[in-house]
Amino acid sequence: MQYDEEIIQTVKDAADIVEIVGETVNLKKNGTNYKGLCPFHSEKTASFNVNPNRNFFHCFGCGAGGDTLKFVMLSQSLNFVEALKYLANRYHITLPERDLSSRELKKKRRKDILYDINQQAAAVYHELLLKDPRAARARGYLAQRGIGDDIVREFELGYAPEGWSFIRQALPGLAEADLLEAGLLAANEKGRIYDRFRDRLLSPIFNHNGKHLAFSGRIIGAGEPKYLNSKDSLIFNKSNVLLGLFQNKKAIRAAKRCLLVEGNFDILALASHGLRYAAAPMGTALTAVHVRALKGYAEEVIILFDGDAAGIKAASRAAPIFLSQRLTARVVVLPPEHDPDSFIREFGAPALEKELDKAVSLPEFLFNDLEKCYGLSLEGKGRIVDELQPIIRAIADDNLQRTLFVSHFSRKLGLQPEQLAGRFTTLRPSSPPLLESPPAVETLPPSFKLSRVEEQLLSFLIIYPSYLEPFLAAGLKESVSSPGGRQIIEAMVSFTESGAAAEPERLLDFVESPARPFVSKKIINAPVLEDEELRVEAEEKINWLAENKLRLEMFGLTAQINKAIKNNDNERLMKLLSAKDEMRKKKQQK
Ligand code: UTP
Ligand code: MN
Repeated sequence: MQYDEEIIQTVKDAADIVEIVGETVNLKKNGTNYKGLCPFHSEKTASFNVNPNRNFFHCFGCGAGGDTLKFVMLSQSLNFVEALKYLANRYHITLPERDLSSRELKKKRRKDILYDINQQAAAVYHELLLKDPRAARARGYLAQRGIGDDIVREFELGYAPEGWSFIRQALPGLAEADLLEAGLLAANEKGRIYDRFRDRLLSPIFNHNGKHLAFSGRIIGAGEPKYLNSKDSLIFNKSNVLLGLFQNKKAIRAAKRCLLVEGNFDILALASHGLRYAAAPMGTALTAVHVRALKGYAEEVIILFDGDAAGIKAASRAAPIFLSQRLTARVVVLPPEHDPDSFIREFGAPALEKELDKAVSLPEFLFNDLEKCYGLSLEGKGRIVDELQPIIRAIADDNLQRTLFVSHFSRKLGLQPEQLAGRFTTLRPSSPPLLESPPAVETLPPSFKLSRVEEQLLSFLIIYPSYLEPFLAAGLKESVSSPGGRQIIEAMVSFTESGAAAEPERLLDFVESPARPFVSKKIINAPVLEDEELRVEAEEKINWLAENKLRLEMFGLTAQINKAIKNNDNERLMKLLSAKDEMRKKKQQK
């Protein structure tokens, strides 16, 4: 996304660096500058300086420095555009709608059409649920599960009746192709087109602004599949969605906390009991996208996980994400026979809120579980140290967080911090001990090195693995030649071939050291791209790959031509020259 320099400057000028930094750092006046403890590394004497005249900060301890925008980016883990928006919002500056290219404009129109179709369909299904005799069983089911009428209306729940062509008949003005793209219709192999949702209770899925992205359809009573969701589309990506966020965001902001539950019905049941500060992913693993969305509303997240192995696994995978996004997370485990829905129905909202008071911090929760699992014998400690490594690695780019984490848990284990973080510690016995510096952690071993271009291409692919195939087709392997880069591509190929869900976090299961920390760091720092930005960026990269492939081929040919000239091999020379000519034509067509 591009904003022009002028508006960026306006925002920077409006922002008061002392005010912004002062929110996280205790600043004291020191001549014309201000001084404080650096938030980016751990220190006991202030080496962090702010210069209000130049709108600039610099730390003499760790070397971090930049302007107000940079500070917001670093301290809140935001990308440039996010930080710009944050400051603009803070100082009441309206950012211009950026000029859309014609391609982007077309895309935006497509999206608007799909939002609109889903909205119209939601209204139809909702009316039916409220009034139609065909929906009697659905109404009975909701009543039996204690979902109040007000909640049915507010969440715009609906009912899709039996039959194969209900929605087409209900929305006669809409093009079949559009209904297909929105996912309300499906086509079988023979090309017969039919309603995707039949005899199901429907929850529209909203983005945080209330745009209709998709539907989630629950079977009424028992049966398989329990939920049928809209397919992913131009406007819907199942693994980025937080159910309930739109309806509950005000309450989440007011409570300053968000209860993270597992299912759609948990959200509905809690809301029916007046507990409104909750959200749920759509049955997928929690990602940095989810956590960043939550961070916009809540100061802490309370995770209501099942106490079973899967729940604990989910918690251990979520921990590094919360840590690196610096969002506090605590965990509550309900009695094994309960989920939030059944618990609140049996005991009521006050009892559930009482449980929340018992929440333990997520790292503590994990540690306790590991202790239960392995014990504190010498061997047990070894296993615990092993299991904590991925978390330490994931926060390896955040000095302060890591130091706190490592010192806290090494104390609990009765170990030296170096023994816990040892594998990643560069021990420099020859250099004089640095006072007050945290144990230096080397994120990437020196053998792992990527060129800038490789890094850009691979960071993108790690977050958006579905682009692997077009990237490969455009010449990814030709452009990535370092061993580390090759290692990541190979891991991505096996990852894709394994059929595992295309979530970046899963990729980690396929990557060996030394590339692992690189991958996890990228996942942790993944920027949130709007759909348009994503498309544009992918296309740019694919074009670049294709061009670079041609360029490399040209180089190769030129080298061969020079060799042929040197060897006086005229026959070969002619062939090579005409090949080069072909290639030049091909290049010009691009
Ligand atoms: P749950 O099985 O916990 O669903 O799955 P639930 O909402 O609590 O449903 P009830 O209480 O059994 O009626 C959690 C979430 O995982 C997704 C849905 O978003 C669901 O809310 N899911 C589950 C699916 O997408 N498909 C499925 O087949 C099952
Ligand atoms: Mn449930």
